[in-house]
Amino acid sequence: MEGAARGPARQRVQSDRMLIRDESADDSAAVHSLNVAAFQTPAEADLVLALRQVARPLVSLVAEADGTIVGHIMFTPVALSGHPDRRMMGLGPMAVAPAHQRRGIGSELVRAGLERCRQLGYGAVAVLGHAAYYPRFGFTPSSGFKIDCEYDVPPEVFMVVELQRNYLYGASGTIKYHPAFAGV
Ligand SMILES: CC(C)(COP(=O)(O)OP(=O)(O)OC[C@H]1O[C@@H](n2cnc3c(N)ncnc32)[C@H](O)[C@@H]1OP(=O)(O)O)[C@@H](O)C(=O)NCCC(=O)NCCS
Repeated sequence: MEGAARGPARQRVQSDRMLIRDESADDSAAVHSLNVAAFQTPAEADLVLALRQVARPLVSLVAEADGTIVGHIMFTPVALSGHPDRRMMGLGPMAVAPAHQRRGIGSELVRAGLERCRQLGYGAVAVLGHAAYYPRFGFTPSSGFKIDCEYDVPPEVFMVVELQRNYLYGASGTIKYHPAFAGV
C-alpha cells in the first residue's frame, strides 16, 4: 500500500485458514465494507479512509481467508505529552467480519500488528477499547504508568503495552491521537 510502513517485518503470517498481510491499494473498498459491517456504523470505516490519507507511518494489515478480507487492523502514531522521544503507536480501528468473529482472527491481527510496530522501532502501543479483550495481548490500564487519554473515557478502557522493556518508565503524560480521530 502506498505510504504504508514497510520494513523488515513485512512477513506474511499464514495458517491453514488465513493469511495476514499488508493492506494493498486494491483492498480499500473491502476494508471499508468490513468496518461498516463490524461496527454497524460508517464512522470507523470513514476514519480508516481518513487515516490512510493523512497518518504516517501507517501500519494497516488485513486478514484474508479464501481470498476474502475478513479482518483489518490499523496502527497510527500517537504523541505522549512531555515525552516527544517516546515513540508510540495507537491501535485502532480494528474489525473482524461478524461471520468470522471468535475464531482467533482478531488475536492474530493484534499480535502481527504489535510485532510490526516493534520492528519499526516503536516502544509502546496504546489502545482505547474493550477492557476484557486487550489484556490478553499484554495491555494494562494506562493509569498504571500515570498516562491518560486526551479523551474523557473510563480508565479501564484506555490501555498501553510496552514493546520494549520499561519503555514507559517515568513517562507520565497525556496521549494524543491524530486529529482525524476527533470526529469519531
Ligand atoms: C473485537 C473484535 C475485533 C475481535 O475479533 P475476533 O476475531 O472475534 O477476536 P478473537 O477471536 O481473537 O477473540 C475473541 C474474543 O474477543 C472477545 N470479544 C469480542 N468482542 C468483545 C467485546 N465487545 N468486549 C469484550 N470482549 C470481546 C470475545 O469475547 C472473545 O473472547 P473469548 O475468547 O474469551 O471468548 C471483533 O469482535 C469485532 O470486529 N468487533 C466489532 C468491532 C469492534 O468492536 N472493534 C474493536 C474496537 S476496540
